[in-house]
Amino acid sequence: MLARAREFLSRKDLPEARLEAELLVAHALGLDRLHLFLALDRPVVAAEVDRARELLVRRARREPVAYLTGKREFYGRAFEVDPRVLIPRPETELLIDLAREWHGGREEPTRVLDFGTGSGCLAVTAALELSASQVLAVDVSDGALSLAAANAARLGAQVEFLRADGPEGLSGRFDLVLSNPPYVTRAESAALAPEVREHEPALALFAPEGDPDHWLRRLVRFAAERLEEGGRLFCELGASQAERAADVAESAGLGALLHDDPAGIPRVLESW
Ligand SMILES: C[S@@+](CC[C@H](N)C(=O)[O-])C[C@H]1O[C@@H](n2cnc3c(N)ncnc32)[C@H](O)[C@@H]1O
Repeated sequence: MLARAREFLSRKDLPEARLEAELLVAHALGLDRLHLFLALDRPVVAAEVDRARELLVRRARREPVAYLTGKREFYGRAFEVDPRVLIPRPETELLIDLAREWHGGREEPTRVLDFGTGSGCLAVTAALELSASQVLAVDVSDGALSLAAANAARLGAQVEFLRADGPEGLSGRFDLVLSNPPYVTRAESAALAPEVREHEPALALFAPEGDPDHWLRRLVRFAAERLEEGGRLFCELGASQAERAADVAESAGLGALLHDDPAGIPRVLESW
């Protein structure tokens, strides 16, 4: 079954055919990948073959593996995902590394905002990794908020969730603002993989009004008004944004530093 699954996905030109066949066959059998290999001599029943076949056909139509299995790992924890939310990306973990470094285990209460929470990956991880944090997670999508709340409950994270359109109407001040806002322009959408373009939520991907810096500007303005003394904004950037990000922050009177992701691409603006 595994061999046929691999062969089927390779014929469909999926570069990760071997790994994906293992993940999808394991999922069809109700196992994880490790247990699949421990159960290689276990007989399979017709219903399992049908389940695997359906998953493979959907994968061949470029549905992302994470939506087919319903989960994706972020910072070492399994998050539930479905087409209501962006699939968490490994490069977004840099926001958490930087937040932890800035936080340094301080003991006083730290008010954290995660703007555009999606699956809740940043809010939940911040709540679990930063001691004495009080995390507010906002999104305009009700579907995202309900999935994020389920992730927080399952992973035992204390997070307050709120539906809001933009950050400006939120009350109070924050020590830390984290965000991975939508920054893709419609013009760039042709270059996206079909997995992303056709299956991930447009609301999570595309910047309003075709302006990749829309949220960067609003978040920088928000940070200038609402960050506590010594506080930080960490905002993820699209590849084309890095060259403008420091100017945007400096023209709002903020300090700015760019951080590279593990691939060496400037990925996060730090502002204060
Ligand atoms: C790129 S996704 C990031 C999701 C998650 N934080 C992550 O890093 O995987 C951006 C999120 O911003 C939300 N969003 C889009 N427009 C918004 C708005 N006007 N107000 C609040 N959230 C918004 C989307 O629903 C989506 O969940």
